[in-house]
Amino acid sequence: MRYGGGRKRRMLLQPFLVLCATVTGVGLLMLALRPLDPPITVDFPRDFELGDSNSSSFDGGGTGFGREKPCATVEDMGKDFEIGLVKKETLRVRRIIEDHFVLNGASRIRDLPPEQFCSHGFVLGKTAEAGFGNEMYKVLTAAALSIMLNRSLIIGQTRGKYPFGDYISYSNFTFTMKEIKLLWRQNDCSRKYGRQLVMRTDDFEKPAQTNVLCSNWKEWKQPIIWFQGTTDAVAAQFFLKNIHSQMRNAAFDLFGDPQVLGSQPNVFGEIMRVLVSPSKDVEAAVNWAIGGGENPDISLHMRMLMNRSIRAVQAALHCIKKAIKSQHLMSRPKVVVVSDTPTLVESIMPNISEFAQVLYFDYEKFKGKIFEGLPKKDFRVKDWGPAPRWVAFVDFFLASRAKYAVVSGAHRRVGTTYAQLIAALAATRNLGANSSGSSFSFLSSFQSTMLTEGLKNQIGWGHVWNRYAGPLSCHNQTNQCAFTPLLPPGWWDGLRQSPIPKDINRLAAYGIRLSALGTVDSDSLQNHCNSRKNVERTITFNS
Ligand SMILES: *[C@@H]1O[C@H](CO)[C@@H](O)[C@H](O)[C@H]1NC(C)=O
Ligand SMILES: *[C@@H]1O[C@H](CO)[C@@H](O)[C@H](O)[C@H]1NC(C)=O
Ligand SMILES: *[C@@H]1O[C@H](CO)[C@@H](O)[C@H](O)[C@H]1NC(C)=O
Ligand SMILES: *[C@@H]1O[C@H](CO)[C@@H](O)[C@H](O)[C@H]1NC(C)=O
Ligand SMILES: *[C@@H]1O[C@H](CO)[C@@H](O)[C@H](O)[C@H]1NC(C)=O
Ligand SMILES: *[C@@H]1O[C@H](CO)[C@@H](O)[C@H](O)[C@H]1NC(C)=O
Ligand SMILES: *[C@@H]1O[C@H](CO)[C@@H](O)[C@H](O)[C@H]1NC(C)=O
Repeated sequence: MRYGGGRKRRMLLQPFLVLCATVTGVGLLMLALRPLDPPITVDFPRDFELGDSNSSSFDGGGTGFGREKPCATVEDMGKDFEIGLVKKETLRVRRIIEDHFVLNGASRIRDLPPEQFCSHGFVLGKTAEAGFGNEMYKVLTAAALSIMLNRSLIIGQTRGKYPFGDYISYSNFTFTMKEIKLLWRQNDCSRKYGRQLVMRTDDFEKPAQTNVLCSNWKEWKQPIIWFQGTTDAVAAQFFLKNIHSQMRNAAFDLFGDPQVLGSQPNVFGEIMRVLVSPSKDVEAAVNWAIGGGENPDISLHMRMLMNRSIRAVQAALHCIKKAIKSQHLMSRPKVVVVSDTPTLVESIMPNISEFAQVLYFDYEKFKGKIFEGLPKKDFRVKDWGPAPRWVAFVDFFLASRAKYAVVSGAHRRVGTTYAQLIAALAATRNLGANSSGSSFSFLSSFQSTMLTEGLKNQIGWGHVWNRYAGPLSCHNQTNQCAFTPLLPPGWWDGLRQSPIPKDINRLAAYGIRLSALGTVDSDSLQNHCNSRKNVERTITFNS
């Protein structure tokens, strides 16, 4: 199993570097060669000017001498993901997930003889009810961890209620804490087998404390593990660089090799497919919006934060057309629009109608009984929009019915966790017994105004393009409609990926020395792990 990354990239980049050096001078050469050198501290050159998207002098065919462009547009970067859904790998992972949840599902585990039950392990997935995308990722990360560690999954409840329990249901192969405590008592695990009900917690958001890179979690003896603060696709993929080969192999099995971009299975989509489903009322609202016809062909998600930027709309219209073309859809395909900004939906409808049927969930017209008593406004209107909270769930499951493509557009944040999970879930429907055999695309729509400094502003780890936001992203790009990974990358191992200075700093806190082009120095990580003090936090439950 390869580890540490960067070998492939170093080989490919060297000819390119020679070229660069003649252009930009020795300073750049020193910088770019750093993957070969001892670790760098964060002193990011201000004048690292690779960002000219029109550097045609670097183009020019011929593969002989590595004529790589010094920077790439988002569409260039997306070429790795044009294939969309990686069917073979995703089917392999679908089988792993299904087998896991049969083997470790509640119905089998709760009937184990006491001795076996008491030695069984669990992972807790616990969330608050903040933004749906981020909170869902916490549960999905717990599920992924349970697979990597061969443990059963617990869904944490708050005062007897599942997270978002009014709108979604969880599969019956999961446990609740209440049931675990009960079974622990019934089986007398503490007294008979000396197994107290202890939970080990690990907080991903505390870089100096988390064991995500340095510890072999497979050896942890505590009955329950809670990996906290995992609000996006990144945390689970950190195990790809864990210093213990057992952990790395478990992560590779699930997520694939981060160096071979474009081959990653749709892990989170596949987990979501088996783990959650819309409640009956949400499902009914989705069906009402679709109006009895076929499922939509394409979904457009616009994350606008109350802004109604014309440029964002123009770019999105172009991107829908590209989706129609790339999927070879004929005569007036069906497009569903969801947004945090309802007025935007109304204003974009006439424009889409020019070439497609368009529908959306008009919550004010919908008369579902469950929703009548619920509050109209919520406290985070700025972030979530003025629609009542439950509308986001209807929109989510409505948009995830798209058969061929999901397009993500935005005022500023393209490919948020919410949009990622819509695309990931939609893609799972495209891969089944009845699948038409056609492909599936996830597309990101960027207006040029968002790209004057390249992808630099896609700062959050929850943004799908964050791992591309560094110096290899061209400045002053034109509008982009880019194929997008269904599994947001956790590392920077791909040829066109590069970190922003903020992430080099942030990774340093985790003990990772990242080169300017995103290569991980595995020796220094090993040293870091050897020298850091072990942090072990536990909670003991009375049982
Ligand atoms: C991008 O455009 C701005 C303003 O037009 C200009 O000042 C800057 O030099 C351009 N950058 C590149 C890398 O072309
Ligand atoms: C870059 O090239 C595109 C066409 O490829 C053109 O529309 C754009 O104006 C050019 N930008 C600059 C800064 O020259
Ligand atoms: C996973 O756990 C199951 C019991 O839950 C056990 O039968 C199986 O051997 C374990 N697999 C591995 C690879 O440890
Ligand atoms: C769990 O759910 C599945 C399908 O959702 C159902 O077929 C099965 O009977 C359920 N099992 C139990 C023990 O309720
Ligand atoms: C909307 O976004 C545009 C472009 O970012 C900005 O110029 C404008 O001021 C914003 N409008 C509002 C109402 O926030
Ligand atoms: C959308 O259509 C309206 C007229 O129906 C037009 O004024 C507007 O420019 C169009 N917007 C875009 C982005 O094409
Ligand atoms: C496949 O499609 C047929 C006919 O449309 C339907 O009867 C069947 O239930 C579908 N099977 C699955 C697995 O969705």
